[in-house]
Amino acid sequence: MTTAQQLSFDVQLSDHARTTAEREQVLASPGFGQTFTDHMISIDYTEGRGWHDARLMPYGPLSLDPATSVFHYAQELFEGLKAYRQTNGSIVSFRPYANAARFNVSASRMAMPALPESAFVESLELLVQTDREWVPTTEGHSLYLRPFMIATQPALGVNYPSQTYKYMVIASPAASYFAGGVKPVSVWLSTEYTRAAPGGTGFAKCGGNYAAAFVAQRQAVAQGCDQVVWLDAFEHRYVEEMGGMNLFFVLGDKLLTPALTGTLLPGITRDSILTLAAGLGLEVEEGRLSIDEWQAGCESGELSEVFACGTAAVITPVGSVKGADRAWTVGDGTPGPVTLKVREELVGIQYGSRPDTHDWIHKIC
Ligand code: PLP
Ligand code: COI
Repeated sequence: MTTAQQLSFDVQLSDHARTTAEREQVLASPGFGQTFTDHMISIDYTEGRGWHDARLMPYGPLSLDPATSVFHYAQELFEGLKAYRQTNGSIVSFRPYANAARFNVSASRMAMPALPESAFVESLELLVQTDREWVPTTEGHSLYLRPFMIATQPALGVNYPSQTYKYMVIASPAASYFAGGVKPVSVWLSTEYTRAAPGGTGFAKCGGNYAAAFVAQRQAVAQGCDQVVWLDAFEHRYVEEMGGMNLFFVLGDKLLTPALTGTLLPGITRDSILTLAAGLGLEVEEGRLSIDEWQAGCESGELSEVFACGTAAVITPVGSVKGADRAWTVGDGTPGPVTLKVREELVGIQYGSRPDTHDWIHKIC
């Protein structure tokens, strides 16, 4: 395989980049994942040759044969991370090597080639440096980076995986994932559908996991909730995670989060919170919690807060829970003090107002 050192990026700048006024109009109200910057990254892979044709090029549509493998068998994976404009003006990302490592874990599960971690990080640096004007200056906003890989072989056989792949990165200015900022979300317990079972792809960030989740997310919305909560595949009793976030439960001075059993995504935000907890005077436990325990804990007051965490969602309080045969409120339904304390610490590190004692901040420019 081509090593990272041998990959050098060809740079082709856009001749139809948005004007400053057009960009500022987008940045005034970016939403989430709706508008993309002027450039993108593309690197191709061919079995036997390795990674080649690394390029930064104008953002634009792809042209692919209708028989291309990804359209039929969903051999695809992605990552999500952000570039932040810090209080001192520099642009940074948060733990990009952790995303690079998870990208390759997902690739291995999907029978796709690993990308050298240094090439992954270099591709992000090049795109963000080129499109740096797209990194929002508004507090709490960021540039969301979406690296992904698709199988590109035009062939319908399923005897072996594609022999060719394309890795890409696109970038999109982002405000809050949930309209309303730190407002608590309501969640729907999905007892009808299963996201992941042991031996499946739950731990991988592959598009198919999300495709299969839309039906449950639609059901959550029909039930008047913001998000679906996934439960274990066997009993639909133990909490796993949410559609694009991990979950934490606050029990006194302890944070409890579902253990990584292979069926949920090992979130980098989750891992960061587990590391930060001690410094915030909180114990941590990676274990399991049933929906009965969740409800009883909220009713007795022992379980005082619940929050969801992820790159896009940052840290979002969960205010109320609904299932086919039950409904309850978490605490008094407003953001709790532990949730806000953890959020302030994490966001403070990302935007540079709190010290980066774990060496998580990666300076881009
Ligand atoms: N769980 C799922 C299913 C996700 O899609 C995400 C988002 O990436 C997460 C959890 C949180 O992961 P991270 O904190 O790395 O963004
Ligand atoms: C992320 O937080 O990066 C995600 O991937 C969540 C999502 C929008 C699917």
